[in-house]
Amino acid sequence: MLIQNPPDIASSEITDEHAYLNRRQFVRGVTGTALGVVAAGLVPGTVAEAGDVGQQEIQNVKPGPFRTDEPQNSFEDITSYNNYYEFGLDKRDPSRNAHTLTTSPWTIQVDGHVAKPADYHIEDLLKGIAFEERVYRLRCVEAWSMVVPWVGFPLSTLIKRFGPTSGAKYVEFTTVLRPSEMPGVRRPVLDWPYVEGLRMDEAMHPLTILAVGLYGKTLLNQNGAPVRLVVPWKYGFKSVKSIVRMRFTSEQPRTAWNKATPNEYGFYANVNPTVDHPRWSQRSERRIGRFFRQATLMFNGYDDQVASLYNGMDLRRFY
Ligand code: MTE
Repeated sequence: MLIQNPPDIASSEITDEHAYLNRRQFVRGVTGTALGVVAAGLVPGTVAEAGDVGQQEIQNVKPGPFRTDEPQNSFEDITSYNNYYEFGLDKRDPSRNAHTLTTSPWTIQVDGHVAKPADYHIEDLLKGIAFEERVYRLRCVEAWSMVVPWVGFPLSTLIKRFGPTSGAKYVEFTTVLRPSEMPGVRRPVLDWPYVEGLRMDEAMHPLTILAVGLYGKTLLNQNGAPVRLVVPWKYGFKSVKSIVRMRFTSEQPRTAWNKATPNEYGFYANVNPTVDHPRWSQRSERRIGRFFRQATLMFNGYDDQVASLYNGMDLRRFY
């Protein structure tokens, strides 16, 4: 993003299924029944059991659709190599600094063109939601990628509850802005708060989810606790973290990266190996944890699902 060349980190292990299952059993053993009670309603971040790091096991997670069977990145990679500029620019900064963010209580303001605008407590929003594990590729605009087993649910489930009216053509998402808890926002890297947006049909698409966890447990702050967007066919910067506002608009929202450098970051930000970033190629990517680069796929490999959303659009112009 602000860097000259896509960054690299040392290779690290991919978590295999055996290690994953062991970890799940370990977490169940440590946190046990107390979490069973709390997690039935999923109240992220409210219980920090001795010996864990403030995460809770999310119960009754069903395998979701669109699951890639590529090897999943390790929990360590996913939680220690992050972009969350509100906590610093270095990939390790979010894992070092984000623990200062208070994620409970958490309210999401819903406003604009909707029948039911309100400030919703996250507990109320998550009541009755069926959580799914969605194993998705995440392709960062910086030309690295990961495979993440998210726990979440279709964004469309919530949007339907809010009742968008005919004026709602886009959804704008805003990240929490708390300078006292976010050391990175003291520098004017972006015009804070971090804002992203989707066209309504993109927001309603079954691939688009709100994630509340990964590897079966509630999100750590560096990954966007308590709730973040995941749009797997778009560059990672569209997947806005720690959401406090969803505004339904008739105009295309002005997004943080597009405001900062409009010639580099467009509104659509669809993964597209044929359109280079002005400062580097987007043809290939480095999967974190692997040595060799691999080809980047159109729409990050989700073209069968999403290409029709952009029929007739010049994707060089609408990048
Ligand atoms: N959301 C906020 N609020 N601030 C950020 O800096 N970075 C984005 C996105 N969401 C970012 C954000 C970018 S560039 C990427 S690649 C993904 O988060 C990374 O998500 P991850 O750290 O969970 O892998």
